Amino acid sequence: MEIPAILARILDAHRDQPGALLPVLHEVQEVFGFIPPETVPAIATALNLSRAEVHGVISYYHHFRQEPPGRHVVRVCCAEACQAVGGEALAEHAKARLAGSDVTLAPVYCLGLCACGPAVQVDETQLHAAMTPTKFDALMARLESEP
Ligand code: FES
Repeated sequence: MEIPAILARILDAHRDQPGALLPVLHEVQEVFGFIPPETVPAIATALNLSRAEVHGVISYYHHFRQEPPGRHVVRVCCAEACQAVGGEALAEHAKARLAGSDVTLAPVYCLGLCACGPAVQVDETQLHAAMTPTKFDALMARLESEP
């Protein structure tokens, strides 16, 4: 199915729902892996919003990607409890380690592992606690070696 047909189905499902923008964006990203830029005008029209309003919400929430993700998506927790135990340095390390790789790095704000941070999530399925740069490198080496 092409993007317009899929988008029309998503918009039809949410059109009359108050505050439909976030559920629509979540579903679009779930289906396509990101928010394709060409979907923004149709989303804006269907929900009676301006394109700028839709863009504003997409860029406000770190969760939404505006480009296709890499083979894996790795989220490093940037919330306070993880920041207090080395999360910021870990995020910097992850950025340098993943530069040019096909792993997409994204921030996340709390993964529920606050007592044993820094926390990292891989592909929305695996959670890793007490992450260090060394453990992060080992984890990325495992991910990148997967077929
Ligand atoms: S603050 Fe990082 S998991 Fe809660």
